Amino acid sequence: MDKAKSQAFMMKVVADLAAATTVSLVHVGDRVGLFRAMAGAGPMSREALEQRTGIHPRYLEEWLAAMFCAGYVEHDADADTWQLPDEHAVFFADPGQEHYLGGLFKGAPALAAMAPRVAEAFETGQGIPFQAYGEAGPLAIEHMNRAVYEARLVTHWLPALPQVLQRLQAGGSALDVGCGTGVIPILLARAFPAARVTGLDVDARSIEIARENARQAGVQERVQFVHQSAVALEPQGDGYDLISTFDVVHDLPDPDAVLRRIRDALSPGGTYLMVEPKVAERLQDNAANPFARMLYGISCLHCVPTSLAQGGPGWSACWGETRARLAAQEAGFGSFKVLPIRNPTQAFFELAA
Ligand SMILES: C[S@@+](CC[C@H](N)C(=O)[O-])C[C@H]1O[C@@H](n2cnc3c(N)ncnc32)[C@H](O)[C@@H]1O
Repeated sequence: MDKAKSQAFMMKVVADLAAATTVSLVHVGDRVGLFRAMAGAGPMSREALEQRTGIHPRYLEEWLAAMFCAGYVEHDADADTWQLPDEHAVFFADPGQEHYLGGLFKGAPALAAMAPRVAEAFETGQGIPFQAYGEAGPLAIEHMNRAVYEARLVTHWLPALPQVLQRLQAGGSALDVGCGTGVIPILLARAFPAARVTGLDVDARSIEIARENARQAGVQERVQFVHQSAVALEPQGDGYDLISTFDVVHDLPDPDAVLRRIRDALSPGGTYLMVEPKVAERLQDNAANPFARMLYGISCLHCVPTSLAQGGPGWSACWGETRARLAAQEAGFGSFKVLPIRNPTQAFFELAA
């Protein structure tokens, strides 16, 4: 027994437990507006923050101390002031900001609360339906992704597919499979007023929210939402010029069949954009990467159980490029390209029949 190794591991375990408490407190701080109140405000006393937020002084004092120990806020002991540095505020202050991470913290406590149910599933081998993760599930996913999609889809990602831009500008058609609450289809409808846009998802609640989101964005006439499993996808008319899946393929009940259906539903010369979590190909190369650790964790707690619940194979969210390439080939796609889009957590694959 290597005592030093054991002690180092013990410190790591304690750090993980500490991080779990931080996750809940970041959720709290985000929800009650503490980060927003501190962002850009410079050093402030606890009393000033209390006045600004109306938070009970005992809770506030304890939260500040915990956030200081976690390295989120800074404390000047002489002046007894607290500060959320600009370099930190950028991740929490504004949900509309591309770097906003608060969305991840909205879903994290709900995911952690599923641990007992996941433990049962480990023993029975059963899946856990998407709906079991709660009413807030679709919104948590939306909060996680919305700001990045809004900031990047049209201005940074689609320009990597010039043929798609051209077709959508000229009134082509797009289908987003597994659209969740409709962020991608709504962005497409806004950016390409002449295009026909459809979103499809198997989750009824997500489709309901997507329709409401489209109404609020004023594009309800130009985007159609279909409540249906991707397994039943049928070719429509001349086919779609763009079919996309964002973080969906590994969740599907029959990914191979869906890939074939997507291929068959493309128009001649149409493009399939597959976006999947980005991890290194070899597991050992992921060990020191916190993004990969987070993605494997979400996969184990959510993606694998929800796929199994649909009778699927439970592919990991971290299934990786090699397997994606192989699956594309087996589905009959003639071309598979990795798009040169810089993104720490998502890989972009361009597929064509
Ligand atoms: C991780 S979420 C991604 C949602 C959205 N694309 C995004 O990026 O925010 C996966 C989505 O796939 C949907 N999904 C899972 N199985 C599906 C199926 N069989 N057919 C259609 N959609 C499915 C889920 O309901 C969920 O909305």
